[in-house]
Amino acid sequence: MTWIRRVYFGDNLSILRRLPSESVHLIYIDPPFNTGKEQSRTRLRVVQSDTGNRRGFGGRTYESIPIDEKAYPDDFDDYEAFLVPRLEEAYRILTPNGSLYFHIDYREVHYCKIWLDRIFGRDCFLNEIIWAYDYGGKPKNRWPAKHDNILFYVKDPNHYTFNVDAIDREPYMAPGLVGPEKAARGKLPTDVWWHTIVGTNSKEKTGYPTQKPVGVIDRIIKASSNAGDVVMDFFAGSGTVGESCLKLNRQFILIDNHPEAIHVMRQRFAGVEGIEWINAFNTSSGDTQSLDPFE
Ligand SMILES: C[S@@+](CC[C@H](N)C(=O)[O-])C[C@H]1O[C@@H](n2cnc3c(N)ncnc32)[C@H](O)[C@@H]1O
Repeated sequence: MTWIRRVYFGDNLSILRRLPSESVHLIYIDPPFNTGKEQSRTRLRVVQSDTGNRRGFGGRTYESIPIDEKAYPDDFDDYEAFLVPRLEEAYRILTPNGSLYFHIDYREVHYCKIWLDRIFGRDCFLNEIIWAYDYGGKPKNRWPAKHDNILFYVKDPNHYTFNVDAIDREPYMAPGLVGPEKAARGKLPTDVWWHTIVGTNSKEKTGYPTQKPVGVIDRIIKASSNAGDVVMDFFAGSGTVGESCLKLNRQFILIDNHPEAIHVMRQRFAGVEGIEWINAFNTSSGDTQSLDPFE
């Protein structure tokens, strides 16, 4: 069996449409939130240049040459039009016993739940996980919003992977009430997960602005997949899902359309054997080519 460790550079919708049905066991995604601002991305070609201001491997320098700018107005109607076709593809690609974890913020979660219920069915919705943290400024005119929401869906509520014994346990809030043996073992987490954000001085920090903590992703991957399974993140950013998969012995498919994300993943996975870097922007025919945008 060929072990899949694949990173695509390109728009996720066109890549998802080319992936086979029922081929991925677990999908975690953390799409850009509906910010109300226009989301624009300048598509860049990165070329080696002695005067370039980007530093790459072996001390080489590069400069970015804009090819075109892609933008979508990040308002409500467009957000639905952007997300729903990608979620439909995710459903098609999941194995019959597969799971989706959809990471979103408190302003969007209710709309996204309705779109996901339509695609998966309401009975396939298992949890809304609250990832709670306590960091950054606090407004004085309302309750400070210090959580993200992660919607957990399965394709078949009677047949899905959930490895309860693999889940990391937490300290009891009142260990004195449960006896020393239980207190030492810790308790199973609930659907509220307290976990710090990736700190400025943290070892796992890559510099990618929206990077999520490996601890949160590890918990999802351990619970909802088995060793050797294929895990996909098609809004991959800094590649946190890939890092967790390498540690936990899962195969992975990562997709991002931002050159900076690919650059960060190249650094994060430096020295890892067997990763295919696929530049899907460079294909007009629909076939992919193994090309690295930073070479
Ligand atoms: C919130 S970030 C993901 C961060 C990631 N979870 C991590 O831990 O680093 C969302 C990512 O989606 C990417 N993205 C947005 N639209 C995309 C599209 N149409 N195709 C592929 N990637 C896209 C952005 O470039 C960005 O890196």
